[in-house]
Amino acid sequence: MYQTLLTELVNGILTITINRPDKLNALNKDVFTDLEAVVDEIKNNAAIQSAIITGAGSKAFVAGADISEFEGLGKNAATELAKRGQDIFLKIEHSPKPVIAAVNGFALGGGCELAMACHFRIAAENARFGQPEVNLGLTPGYGGTQRLTQLIGKGRAIELLISGKMIDANAALQYGLVNYVVPASELLNKANEVLSNINTKAPLAIAACIRAANAVYDETQNGYKTEIEAFGECFGTDDMKEGTKAFLEKRIPKFIGK
Ligand code: COA
Repeated sequence: MYQTLLTELVNGILTITINRPDKLNALNKDVFTDLEAVVDEIKNNAAIQSAIITGAGSKAFVAGADISEFEGLGKNAATELAKRGQDIFLKIEHSPKPVIAAVNGFALGGGCELAMACHFRIAAENARFGQPEVNLGLTPGYGGTQRLTQLIGKGRAIELLISGKMIDANAALQYGLVNYVVPASELLNKANEVLSNINTKAPLAIAACIRAANAVYDETQNGYKTEIEAFGECFGTDDMKEGTKAFLEKRIPKFIGK
């Protein structure tokens, strides 16, 4: 079904593996087409509760946009490419179901941007993060200047952006760029463990939390207002009635996503 992705659905968790290991999983046109389609699949397939994005092989999550596709691009085509990348990454960020990055090596340029578009990140000990575009005479184009600043603060972000230097997994943890660092052999287990717990929560409440948290960075919305609306809407759901009833009856709730 996908040319550049491997997908596997187990216990409601879709593991998406970007599968171009000989090119360190660099993002070319085909990967973009597939990523766009898989975000739709996550949304539309009721059997999927959450997803993990990772890279094939032991070396890289994604080593960036495919630099070989930059050759001969003019200003207009490059602007369109950045817009396309940003649109796809925005779709990931706005997925109502959690999408996390399991970063198994280099996450550079578009790879770091892809990881940052996910709702949060788990890193293997060998993960390396960076926005090396300045080495190519470029800026990031797929949201890197924005999300890096949001996630780690302006001073650290600007240093990484203008030096092009890489940071290791522990620095990423200290900066708040990743939530956990685990041995490479444990990476997917950890991602599955974290999502298995999240998958027991009420899906509409999860979607509302994501929507309200994203509103912080959306200048067209007042995030506090978004939160008030989300809170009110939850009271109209069966899952809220079930969750509160189960608490009072001292039992585990059974959520249905309605
Ligand atoms: N685009 C296209 N191809 C890429 C790529 C990218 N972003 N990153 C790696 N590759 C390719 C290499 O060209 C090489 O292909 P080849 O075997 O056909 O020559 C293959 O992947 C392996 O990469 P290589 O550079 O040989 O591995 P390395 O271990 O020596 O170095 C990196 C690893 C990640 C440090 C290095 O590949 C790199 O700097 N990549 C580019 C990172 C970057 O600038 N990303 C931002 C792009 S905007």
